[in-house]
Amino acid sequence: MPDDYTPATIAAVRRLRDTLDQEGKKLVFTNGCFDLLHAGHVRYLEQARALGDAMVVALNSDESVRALKGPDRPLNTECDRAEVMSALRAVDAVVVFDDERATSLIEAIRPHVYAKGGDYTVESLNREERTALEVAGTQISILPLVPGRSTTRTINKMQGGGESTPASSGLLRLAVLGSGAGSNLRAIIAAIADNKLKAEIAVTLTDQANSSFREIARAAGLPALFVDGGENPRKLSDAAQKEVFEHLERARVDVVVLAGFMRILKEPVISAYAGRIVNVHPSLLPKFKGANAPQLAIEDGELESGCTVHLVTAEIDGGRILAQAKVRVNIGDTAEKLHARIKVEEHKLLSQVLNEWRERGLPVRGAGAS
Ligand code: GRF
Repeated sequence: MPDDYTPATIAAVRRLRDTLDQEGKKLVFTNGCFDLLHAGHVRYLEQARALGDAMVVALNSDESVRALKGPDRPLNTECDRAEVMSALRAVDAVVVFDDERATSLIEAIRPHVYAKGGDYTVESLNREERTALEVAGTQISILPLVPGRSTTRTINKMQGGGESTPASSGLLRLAVLGSGAGSNLRAIIAAIADNKLKAEIAVTLTDQANSSFREIARAAGLPALFVDGGENPRKLSDAAQKEVFEHLERARVDVVVLAGFMRILKEPVISAYAGRIVNVHPSLLPKFKGANAPQLAIEDGELESGCTVHLVTAEIDGGRILAQAKVRVNIGDTAEKLHARIKVEEHKLLSQVLNEWRERGLPVRGAGAS
């Protein structure tokens, strides 16, 4: 449309960078969707701009926002977002880019400084973007988020959801993550249906597209998200770590339940949800951390084993123990038989811990600004 705002070209921004460079000045680069600007964004952009002498903001195109955030986003078109963004005091140029990642833009512009919001760490930046920044000799700056401001929060308010907390709704909002059979998910669904667990499952998420876990979620009519974790079945790629974080934020969950989720969660989820992520593990921790715990208990000649619900920290199966239940190891037990009996206890223990948690109240957490 003729009236639409025209964003800057990459070539023009590169010329701006080169001019600044000749003058010994710095170009700051940041990128994002920015589909509903709020004070948190403005303050973030002011801080980013203060790292150099001019700033370019790369906006994800409408198509790439949809790919990143789901079919209901962006709220405003790329032309409108670019126009509003360019009116800010901190912003000297706006470009729109089509990829989900900013790698090719970084390569073309070679900014002096790259700014990113504090829901990232240098480690959780997308690997390709990070490599492009290193090749360009760009300084990476992670800026703190402004608490209490976020697009997700604004959208929820507009949809009438208010600022729901366990205290106001009486229900814990759960995310359940799993990779396999999904019996713990099924038990949580059943406990909620029987009114034994005062919770609601806001979202389920799996790294296994065709798992029973996902089937159970779908059959119960729950959002059943899939995140591609990358090649290593025990790890989540940096991009996937970020994606999981974004899904959790969007679903506004109080507690993240790892119910047989086989990949290791790292930043930004671990910090953002510190004290609010629980895992269920089939052994009496600290014994038999990691995989194959029932098999290891049998091999070690244990007379009893069991399960543990514990908080999740960066240390694998090492966070504070919240509750345990014991299970006898029978003569002639196989790992499968023992594991099946342990699971019966897991199913009760998880709901019990979540209910107690809800009654006791959860630690307060800060809100992001994305
Ligand atoms: C459970 O035994 C849990 O302790 C472990 O993974 C298993 C998941 O089982 N972390 P399911 O998928 O819930 O049936």
